[in-house]
Amino acid sequence: MKGIILHGGHGTRLRPLTHTGPKQLLPIANKPMSEYCLESLRTAGITDIAIIIGGIGSNKVQEYYGDGKDFGVKLSYIEQDSPKGIAHAVRLCKDFVGNEKFVVFLGDNIIQKNIQDYVSDFVNSDDAASILLCEVNNPSQFGIAEIKNEKIIKLIEKPKNPPSNLAVTGIYFLTPIIFDLIDKLKPSWRNEFEIVDALQMLLDINKKVRYYVITDFWKDTGTPEDILQANKTILENMKPYFYGTKDDDIIIEGNVMIGEGTLIKNNSKIMGPVIIGKNCIINDDVCVGPNTSIGDNSKLSHCKIKNSIIMENCEIDCNIKIKNSIISSNSNISKKTDQDEKIFLLGEGTKISL
Ligand code: DAU
Repeated sequence: MKGIILHGGHGTRLRPLTHTGPKQLLPIANKPMSEYCLESLRTAGITDIAIIIGGIGSNKVQEYYGDGKDFGVKLSYIEQDSPKGIAHAVRLCKDFVGNEKFVVFLGDNIIQKNIQDYVSDFVNSDDAASILLCEVNNPSQFGIAEIKNEKIIKLIEKPKNPPSNLAVTGIYFLTPIIFDLIDKLKPSWRNEFEIVDALQMLLDINKKVRYYVITDFWKDTGTPEDILQANKTILENMKPYFYGTKDDDIIIEGNVMIGEGTLIKNNSKIMGPVIIGKNCIINDDVCVGPNTSIGDNSKLSHCKIKNSIIMENCEIDCNIKIKNSIISSNSNISKKTDQDEKIFLLGEGTKISL
């Protein structure tokens, strides 16, 4: 069985974070979100994987994952010229897939449950497709399934009047028959070739589309709030470790992961769940956590940070309380003068609340 990870798209809802690279490389608990997809596939025994790339900074995807050897998989890259839809991206994989069954993972979907059982069921079935559904509060933001007598009777993308609150998650178990149906698709109201419409075509020709309703954590990380929520859940479920060095006067509580070479000193407090990457310096009355990730090589002094993601190589040296924030790599927040005036150098689409 083969795997496909969708790593294209514009990531517009996550600007300015996506001005310099694809959203699927944004870190959750210090790891790109698409790496969780790759791990889900690998854990299910799927190691021959194509990654669909396209859009800003797509070269960074190749730089990070390479040929996949370091991640225990074999990777191919397929370029999508523009984000014309999930079905369009899947269609580009026809030659890669050949006659095999395959799993498509949207690179911004994170699922806690191991997909191994669904993969085995699918391999041993004559289902044309299989999907995972999950109850949501905002069904008009998703592909939605209508179920009757335990069968899917309708699939519809982002309906105005949702027939149920069962969202189609971004993990699709497919067979090559889908390619012929994608060829017959017309663009949707949002001008995309929708995978949900191709699945509806399978239903229309009486092919079996199985579904499971999942109750474990699943998140489409489309907005900053979604990313922070996913960060919190993943941190809560990580096994604690401490590879750094600490002074005697610091306090560490809860689920805490500290990387090699990191130094925690001078009355600092780490309130888990928290991950701090490698070679960081946490100094002078800093309080980190809960629900916070700090990327490698970052330096924090005098600040309090909670429910946030600070990416790598950041420096914060300022008497400031930060919460519910995402701060990109190489950012610097400092207090250089005693004056009230602040100095900003901000990229397009930046959000600040003072
Ligand atoms: O997360 C689940 C939802 O994902 C489903 O319920 C919807 O049926 C499905 O259409 C999709 O909805 P979104 O509007 O959230 O899709 P989005 O445009 O965010 O794209 C999903 C992923 O696929 C994202 O990682 C970007 C990537 N992508 C998207 C398009 C349109 C591509 O690689 N190429 C594309 O052309």
